[in-house]
Parts: sequence; C-alpha cells; structure tokens
Amino acid sequence: MDRSDARARLDQLWARGTEFLGTRVAIMGGAMSWVSERHLVSAISNAGGFGVIACGSMNPALLEAEIAATQAMTRKPFGVNLITMHPQLDDLVRVTLAAGVGHVVLAGGLPPPAAIRAIKDGGAKLVCFTPALSLGKKLVRSGADALVIEGSEAGGHIGPVSLTVLAQEILPHLRDVPVFVAGGLARGDAILSYLEMGASGAQLGTRFVCAAESIAHPNFKRAFLRAAARDAVPTVQLDARFPVIPVRALVNEGTRKFLEHQAEVIKKFQSGELAKDAAQLDIEHFWAGSLRRAVIEGDVENGSVMAGQSVGMVTREQPTAEIIAELVDQAVDALVARAGAETLAPAG
Ligand SMILES: Cc1cc2nc3c(=O)[nH]c(=O)nc-3n(C[C@H](O)[C@H](O)[C@H](O)COP(=O)(O)O)c2cc1C
Repeated sequence: MDRSDARARLDQLWARGTEFLGTRVAIMGGAMSWVSERHLVSAISNAGGFGVIACGSMNPALLEAEIAATQAMTRKPFGVNLITMHPQLDDLVRVTLAAGVGHVVLAGGLPPPAAIRAIKDGGAKLVCFTPALSLGKKLVRSGADALVIEGSEAGGHIGPVSLTVLAQEILPHLRDVPVFVAGGLARGDAILSYLEMGASGAQLGTRFVCAAESIAHPNFKRAFLRAAARDAVPTVQLDARFPVIPVRALVNEGTRKFLEHQAEVIKKFQSGELAKDAAQLDIEHFWAGSLRRAVIEGDVENGSVMAGQSVGMVTREQPTAEIIAELVDQAVDALVARAGAETLAPAG
C-alpha cells in the first residue's frame, strides 16, 4: 500500500464523520472555554478539521458577535458548544441558529427537551456527550445526530471512565449515529485505531492549546509545554458529604490551596459556623473565574490550568494546519507500515 492508497483508506474509515461534519478530516477541535474562540476555531476549520466555539459563560450578544467574527475568518463549517446549565440556553440556541451555524454541541449534563427540539426544528445537527451506552441510546432516540464519548484522560470536566473502556463498551453497540472519540488523543495512529473499532472521528482539545493561532496566554502555553501526563490530575475531594466536580488540570498552587480551602470549610461546617448548603456553595465558588485567570491573564499558579493527560505529547507551538497534517500523516504512516508488515509476513 502506498501513501495515497493509505490516505484513501483513512478517508474511507472516517467517511461517516467527514460527511457529518462537512469537512476534509474528521477531527473536531473540542470546545475549550476562553481558548476556543474565533482564531483557533477558524484555524481548525480552515485546516480541514471542525472548529467548535466554546460559549462557556458568554451571554447571547457576546456569542452572536463571536459567531459573526468566526464566520468572517472562515467559510468552512464550524460548530458551537453550549453548556446545558446556562441560564440563557434557549436564547443562545436561538442566536446560534439565526446565524446559520449547522452543528450545535450540548455539553454538561442531560440536554433539556426544549433545546433539543429548537435545534432540530432550526435545521441544525445536534451533537451530545454520552458517558455510557444506555444513555447514548436514549440520546439518539431523543434526537442526537452524533455522539462524543470522552474518556477520563481528557482535560476539563471529566467522567470516571477511560476512553479505552468507553470505546469497547459503546462503539460495537451504537451504530445508528456517528460516534466521535475524545480524551487523551494526541497522535494520528491512536485515532486510527479507534476508527477501526467503529468510531467516525475524534475530538481533541489539549493538542490544540499550543497552536500558533490559539490566544491562550504564553504562560498557559509554557505550562503545557513543560508538563508531563502525570501532572494533569483530577480535582481531589476531601469529604464525601461535599462533592467536588472532577476537573482535570495541571497541579499548581491553586490545586493545593483548594485542598486547604475544603478543609477550612469542612471545619466551619463541623463547628456549626456554616450550614451544609452554604459550605457546599463556598467549595464550588473556589474555582469561579479561575480558567479565565489562567488562559487569559496568564496566572498559571493560582488559576485553573485545565489539561488532559496528552499534555505530555504537546512539545512545541505549531500552526494548527501543521498539527492536523501531522495527525493525518501519523495515521497514514501506520496504515502503510501495517500493509508492509503483512507483505513480509510468511504465508500460512
Ligand atoms: C482548557 C480546556 C477547557 C475546556 N473547556 C470545555 C468547555 O468549555 N466545554 C466542553 O464541552 N469541553 C471543554 N473541554 C473539553 C474539550 O472540549 C475536549 O473534549 C477535551 O479536551 C478532549 O480531551 P483531550 O484534552 O485529552 O484532547 C475543555 C478542555 C480543556 C483542555
């Protein structure tokens, strides 16, 4: 098999994904709050992938402006990621549909039926996350046009199960819609192996943070370039009575202070100084605004440096197009090498 045959094979393997996204390669840039704005999103789409704007806590007017700015930088398809808990979710959906965005990704919990209906009635494709097979099937019945399965290797908010296991549990049994794999992916040969298991494409976040077009602060990028896989750890919860949302981020002064903060709050709760609800809120508020502090202001010591375990494979700042070309080359190389090995193998 030569490289052009291998590329044709790769295109076959992710055909369902490229068709769904309307792209040349079935690689989605996972939405990252503060990072996935017009520059990175348009760069990913212009390079043949699928950029996704992270709405995060933007209000409808800001989102509308971000979509328009992105449309001015690319004529290729891109999506918008909305968090289901956002108090203005319906308005955000309306603004997204009015701007003609073709794909909406709903993240952060079960999507409300009204939002699903609005997205479908508006003619956009709906992408949802599923943490398990049963929920994935339910989401498809409710109208999801594609699913993302994200392993706990990922950066940001995470579930408890690795992509290795999720892929085995879900890919063989969920064939109705394209399924994109996410979490810990930084190489094309790894993406290829999931395509061969039945995935239609992949979503990567961490690998794109140090793209030249990413507006992340130089300190944030430097922290990524220095870090190893083991530095990207989930938040630690001190007390079962006060649950903590698991977020994978680089260990820093902030993560250490969070432990102290939890201990202090629990002490106040035990002494009767704080009621349970107030104590829970106090713990939850610790990280408010902290991703912005790290990504935009560059305070990587006290802010939240959300990163996946693949951070160890981010070794230099590179143009987005180069990152995507590298991922494709690695998948093609793997296919060529494998065909060579088959030719050399003795018959029988
Ligand atoms: C800095 C950062 C911020 C993120 N913010 C969001 C977000 O706002 N919404 C979301 O759905 N996922 C978010 N994610 C998850 C990514 O969209 C993507 O699914 C994940 O990064 C994939 O795993 P990987 O980091 O191992 O490539 C974030 C990830 C990172 C690293």
